Amino acid sequence: MTLVDEIRLLMAAPSMTANDMRTLLRRDHDEIVQLARDMCESESGDERRALLKQLKPALFAHTRAEQREVYDVLLRRQGDDDAREIAYEGYVAHTVQDDLLERMTKSRKTESDEWKAHSQVLLELVTQHVDKEQGRLFDFLTAQYNDDEREAMGRRFVAAKSRLALKVKAA
Ligand SMILES: [Fe+2]
Ligand SMILES: [Fe+2]
Repeated sequence: MTLVDEIRLLMAAPSMTANDMRTLLRRDHDEIVQLARDMCESESGDERRALLKQLKPALFAHTRAEQREVYDVLLRRQGDDDAREIAYEGYVAHTVQDDLLERMTKSRKTESDEWKAHSQVLLELVTQHVDKEQGRLFDFLTAQYNDDEREAMGRRFVAAKSRLALKVKAA
């Protein structure tokens, strides 16, 4: 995130602290969307492959930590249809993204138009999912949790992401 983005974010949401869950999710989202966009816009097969290598672990750590520390928390809210719907739809969106990423990883023809089409669809999926999370999910987190709870959630999210990153490195 650039300094300008950071300032814009703080102005838009003065109550959102740096460790708030929403701030942490948004920071990851910005990074992921940027990588997906760069990959989609690149005309070089080698560069596309290099960007995929960066995007995959970033998306993996983000989605798995998000599932554990956000979606699963929402799923445990028995009788809260809204929370459960957000979580289930999120899980499905992650699965579709994973599937596409897997196909792109298996294909060696990163310079082909077909591969570019895959990266275009991935960018669209990621962007749509991020927009939805920053809308509906953020509204939910704002309404249902206070500042301290969102910061505690954020700490657990960061810890989960670190553990996942170690796991990816060890694999
Ligand atoms: Fe997310
Ligand atoms: Fe997500």
